[in-house]
Amino acid sequence: MKIKLPEILNDKLSKSINEAKLQFDKLVSKEGKGNDFLGWLDLPVECKGYLEEIKETAKEFSAGLDVVVVVGIGGSNLGAKAIYEGLKPKFEKPQLEILFAGNNLDEDYHYELVEYLNDKQFGIIVISKSGTTTEPAIAFRILREKLEKSAGKEKASQRIIAITDKEKGALRKLANEESYKTFVIPDDVGGRYSVLSPVGLVPLAVAGIDIEQLCKGASEMRKVLFEDKSDENVAFRYAAARNLLYEQGYKVELLVNYNTSLITFAEWWKQLFGESEGKEAKGLFPASANFTTDLHSLGQFIQEGSRILFETVISVGQTKHDLIIPADDDNTDGLNYIAGKKIDFVNKMAMQGTYLAHTSAGVPNIIIEIDKVDEYNFGGLIYFFELSCAISGYMLGVNPFDQPGVEAYKRNMFALLGKPGYEEEGEKLRERLNNS
Ligand code: PA5
Repeated sequence: MKIKLPEILNDKLSKSINEAKLQFDKLVSKEGKGNDFLGWLDLPVECKGYLEEIKETAKEFSAGLDVVVVVGIGGSNLGAKAIYEGLKPKFEKPQLEILFAGNNLDEDYHYELVEYLNDKQFGIIVISKSGTTTEPAIAFRILREKLEKSAGKEKASQRIIAITDKEKGALRKLANEESYKTFVIPDDVGGRYSVLSPVGLVPLAVAGIDIEQLCKGASEMRKVLFEDKSDENVAFRYAAARNLLYEQGYKVELLVNYNTSLITFAEWWKQLFGESEGKEAKGLFPASANFTTDLHSLGQFIQEGSRILFETVISVGQTKHDLIIPADDDNTDGLNYIAGKKIDFVNKMAMQGTYLAHTSAGVPNIIIEIDKVDEYNFGGLIYFFELSCAISGYMLGVNPFDQPGVEAYKRNMFALLGKPGYEEEGEKLRERLNNS
């Protein structure tokens, strides 16, 4: 992986990189905020110990199934979804279909999912660290009931894998009672840093993704980032640059891709940075754009709108396939000047043209280069962003491992739903709603 930073940062960069190094030392010596949630730092090394068990379980579990529904939200959903959607065939229907649920409260989504499963042999992987999150709990209740009705209680329990806390929470209790196969989410790993734990690895193994290569990519990235103490360390450089840009008044970081395989990855990235840094009225707002698609929508704003954002572009070296633009005798569409070129050549020229257009209009660009989109590179990219995010959060002065802000909506929702214990609060909120 390589990183290219905006030239405008040059004179301040070295000082900021030194600060990033100090924060890295604080992180690995466990002296910073949230230091009881640093288990993710070693997941790429530790996961080697449980890869075989996961692969074995995945093989047994998926035998005879048409569909597996992965139930979870936030950190218990986005990592696996990002990698699966990045690597699955774009059009060919896979032998084993992987669907995601428990990540919304959309009644129509759940209704149509249940209908779709009518004539299918399906299994469920339910993931919740707390074991009590409302969205996955509702989806799991509905899907479990359907599975038990269609396959019988005993067979259903063999078609469910639960990934949760080792002893706490409603999901752990149920899994123990029903003898589900379970995997543990380590106590010291928060949701958004958990993709390299069973949270991500189990569903990905079931989907046929090479989890060994994923962990290898992460583990080799970890080695490089831990050993390289120079100013060239890509995590130090990225954390330093985004903090400098924030100090210079940029408030939005737009993660840009030019490859459809990275669209869902941006959702994982947004959660990682948004939940880690957006607190104490501080932090860059993480947003994303898919180019060249969004050059025909957001492109106008980026070029000429409010100067509030900078771009972090993920540039992919090679495509998986070759597809050449054909010559045409009539040349009615005027494209013969690029006949014989790969589509990716045009994509790269669009990228370079956009870089020049946006940077000259006051939109700084950070460019992250990876060789290709595969398991190995996803592993590396995940660890790179996780480490950079932790360092960057420390540079900002926040605890990158908690998420107190997400409780506010939950409290109000429970009160409005009439959850026992929230009655008085519910009365007050209804009154506020009536008066607003
Ligand atoms: O990153 C986080 O901690 C959150 O996004 C959680 O992963 C999310 O709220 C789901 O929580 P749980 O796994 O407890 O159901």
